[in-house]
Amino acid sequence: MNARNVIIDCDPGIDDALALMLALSSPELNVLGITIVCGNVSTDKGAKNALKILDWMDRTDIPVYLGETAPLYRDYVDAEDTHGTDGLGESGYTVPVGTAPQKNAVSFLAQSLQRAAAASKPISIIALGPLTNLARLIQTAPESLAGLDELVSMGGNYKSHGNCSPVAEYNYWCDPHGAQAVYEAFASHPLLSGKQIHMVGLDVTRRIVLTPNILEYMARLSPRMGELVARITRFYMDFHWKQEGIIGCVINDPLAVAYFLDRDLCHGFSAHTAVETEGICMGQTVVDTFDFWNKKKNCMVLTQTDPLRFMAFFLGRLCRREPEELIPLLRQIMVLMETDGKEAL
Ligand code: RIB
Ligand code: CA
Repeated sequence: MNARNVIIDCDPGIDDALALMLALSSPELNVLGITIVCGNVSTDKGAKNALKILDWMDRTDIPVYLGETAPLYRDYVDAEDTHGTDGLGESGYTVPVGTAPQKNAVSFLAQSLQRAAAASKPISIIALGPLTNLARLIQTAPESLAGLDELVSMGGNYKSHGNCSPVAEYNYWCDPHGAQAVYEAFASHPLLSGKQIHMVGLDVTRRIVLTPNILEYMARLSPRMGELVARITRFYMDFHWKQEGIIGCVINDPLAVAYFLDRDLCHGFSAHTAVETEGICMGQTVVDTFDFWNKKKNCMVLTQTDPLRFMAFFLGRLCRREPEELIPLLRQIMVLMETDGKEAL
């Protein structure tokens, strides 16, 4: 199998950590590097967390790069209330001795894409945080876009309400100008003609809820993985109970990685999409469903997913089991909607 070359741009962050664990458990991906952007926590904390995660997964060979430390124009607002002051749920893990991040994520992105273009081996980017690094890449090295294969972004929302305001999702609310710059590039830059952003937004990610029952199952399948995931999600579960009155936690970012690996996990439609940068709706993704503006359909807006199939995929990868084996018990312990899992594996 030819593994696909990817760079993961993220703000770890608890669900980013789970997404990185999924990516590093998937042989279809050749993770060339991890670029860090300010988001859930500062870039410095995010980089330290990426190093911890690479150590857990025995992949300290993968480089980590420090990216932008503030949004393009907005004041930076973190999400430590959700992810803890360490960004991993106050889990107390330490940075492995002898590891350190490298500087200048945007240069790494630009040089990697330029080399990819020259070798005709394009690289995909899976973006799990604010799009500040990618906006800077477009501003400073637009020619490098010739080496981009696909962009999958966890962010935004279509009909689902926001999680930072009535209408805005955190990644795009944290840096709306960065998000809009990337969406505009996919609407107009000649090197991106024919390409779309795959927007894995709250409409699909809200369906992905990690519950104590699923954690219990994970621990029985793999005590080490179960302990790791339980330790970093406890704080996140408490936040969800206080904030949304649910038992469990919405794990947004892993769905973006899973969708990159298996396109059948999410479905949606193409539309021109723009990001509001000002006023009370700042950060909102405005999806031109009925083509009022007659602009390029720069976005694949994902609106449906199958939580059962995702969870079987996710646990299967992390615990090295075949997803089919996990479906029966997951069907028993997950709260599913009528249509979920009917066409499961
Ligand atoms: O709105 C959810 C997104 O914002 C996730 O990527 C989470 O990690 C935060 O970055
Ligand atoms: Ca994230």
